[in-house]
Amino acid sequence: MHQIIAMSYPFQIKSFDQYLAAYKKSVEDPEGFWSEIAADFFWRKKWDKVLEWNFKEPKIEWFKGAKLNITENCLDRHLEKNANTPAIIWESNDPEEHHRVLTYRELYNKVCQFAHVLKNNGVVKGDRVCIYMGMIPELAIAVLACARAGAIHSVVFGGFSAQSIADRLQDAKAEYIITCDGAFRGNKEIQLKNVIDDALVQCPFVKKVIVVTRTRTPVSMIKGRDVWWEDEIKKVETQGSNDFKAEEMDAEDMLFILYTSGSTGKPKGVVHTCGGYMIYTAYTFVNVFQYQPGDIHFCTADIGWITGHSYILYGPLSAGATTLMFEGIPTWPDAGRFWNIVDKYKVSILYTAPTAIRSLMGFGLDVVKDHDLRSLKVLGTVGEPINEEAWNWYHENIGKGQCPVVDTWWQTETAGVLISNLAGVTPAKPTYATLPMPGIQPVLVDENGKTVPGTDAARDGVYTSESISSPAGGSLEGAGNLCIKFPWPGMLRTTYGDHERCRLNYFSTYENLYFTGDGCLRDKNGNYRITGRVDDVLNVSGHRIGTAEVENAINMHAGVVESAVVGYPHDIKGQGIYAFVIYPSLHNEPSLSRQDITLTVSRIIGPIAKPDKIQFVSGLPKTRSGKIMRRILRKIAEGETDNLGDVTTLLDPSVVEEIKNGKI
Ligand code: WTA
Repeated sequence: MHQIIAMSYPFQIKSFDQYLAAYKKSVEDPEGFWSEIAADFFWRKKWDKVLEWNFKEPKIEWFKGAKLNITENCLDRHLEKNANTPAIIWESNDPEEHHRVLTYRELYNKVCQFAHVLKNNGVVKGDRVCIYMGMIPELAIAVLACARAGAIHSVVFGGFSAQSIADRLQDAKAEYIITCDGAFRGNKEIQLKNVIDDALVQCPFVKKVIVVTRTRTPVSMIKGRDVWWEDEIKKVETQGSNDFKAEEMDAEDMLFILYTSGSTGKPKGVVHTCGGYMIYTAYTFVNVFQYQPGDIHFCTADIGWITGHSYILYGPLSAGATTLMFEGIPTWPDAGRFWNIVDKYKVSILYTAPTAIRSLMGFGLDVVKDHDLRSLKVLGTVGEPINEEAWNWYHENIGKGQCPVVDTWWQTETAGVLISNLAGVTPAKPTYATLPMPGIQPVLVDENGKTVPGTDAARDGVYTSESISSPAGGSLEGAGNLCIKFPWPGMLRTTYGDHERCRLNYFSTYENLYFTGDGCLRDKNGNYRITGRVDDVLNVSGHRIGTAEVENAINMHAGVVESAVVGYPHDIKGQGIYAFVIYPSLHNEPSLSRQDITLTVSRIIGPIAKPDKIQFVSGLPKTRSGKIMRRILRKIAEGETDNLGDVTTLLDPSVVEEIKNGKI
């Protein structure tokens, strides 16, 4: 093994007292706090002003006027001392296929080469580039090359359908696409290029599609539009151009767009900018996971989601860490796949989702015990509330009771973790995300926007004296809707192309607060516990899916009159999707099958949004003004049919009986 020269993290919090001091400073002097952290990064030019903000418009600007390129922080600055440190270790879907390692030097070279490819194909600063790929190293290279060339990347998860891609391409007006011929996922092969071809029927403005070879499945290449990644790289090699001078970006220039579901039918493009995103992901990575040089960090997310952006790529790479990228799925070829990878690479930090933990629990301990898991130091979870049983199983059977479990709460909009314990530094409490990161000011409010007494971290403290003796204890202090009072460098700046939508979605529910859409509790010790979404967004296996999106998709089927979609508790997925569907002639033989509905949803959104349960009904419970009473449907889906609350305001209360009796 080569020698690893420690990169130091001056902002790494090492003790509980240091956490308290950092929190205090971040509240009293946020600008001083974040500018000290920012000083540890490489800027071509320092900022004119640390922070300019109001939540009314909203306007959020961090480090405006500063010049940088995030890839100089993720790559160039590690070359002097850590050129030979592995940056990315890649494990194939197929355990028999040889793994790949890219050192910082190699990754730098490949990113520069591909940045030239982008340039040769016409991409310039500010262009939107859509990336639709499987989890191969070229995905990381593509993302970083966009950032290096100043292009705005918009990664679309490989499970989305042609229609979803077309919607996103149109919204972002993306003229460039990077994709693969296909992708491997477990025993399946997904034909990515074919899906892109279908999407592009609706997107004539797309100028270039760059295609990487992975599965060797036959694809059709359109002359003048479609080019092979490998051919383009060869051209760059013959040009002999190795380095690519990184484009100079303002701290507030856009780095990427990532689409996510909201309460309406149309996904919104969350926008993150270069400077604040970099600082926030690096700061949280180093502190939450307590990364040490030489550690191997394994985040099991897909780069198509924010977790992959922030904690496979930007966070670890800006910290000079070694990040492990896995192409496959946890249950193939068997349910010991994660444990096999931990053992094979001596993984130090494992970061995964409660849904994966719950599904692996079901396979028993036989698949765990054959693997040596002693390299593990820290376990993390993200994406949805973790139930106590799963938390304990993870802690005892994977961490052998020795590894702190960090329950990290955050969102696509927040760029990085906002509430979490810091591994081994601040106390854990099962099912609680616990304490806010320094710089984060959570507060719980009631429906009218009134602060729930004792829940405002900045005012009431992150920790009360009662707690020091029993830090993980603490009875309930209050419950409410989770909001954040003050900006942090990683918060979203806008929703692409529609700033008003950003304001309406996040900043208009409660005055002067960012509203997260989550319900939350706080205990007397200051620990926060996220209870789940309070809007019409479902969290299925850690994936955010808007009920309105699924309804729109179902309604696309010609045979459907109307539909209503709600969530219900699901043992493995956290939430399942329950669809109530009206079709024209209930008394005749149904002209519609459940499969018709499922296929429609797959085609319009993608397989991740397929309903778990579909019930055909003759009507939906509506108020006299025509509003669907989702509360009632939710209760029925949850199996709580005895206590449906007041149904007298319904237009036709008898429909409720019918739905109850037909429940599946
Ligand atoms: C939920 C994923 C409980 C929450 C990073 C949030 C969580 C949504 C947790 C964001 C957690 C995420 N405990 N709930 N530790 N982490 N969530 O945008 O409802 O895909 O609003 O970001 O996931 O999902 P997103």
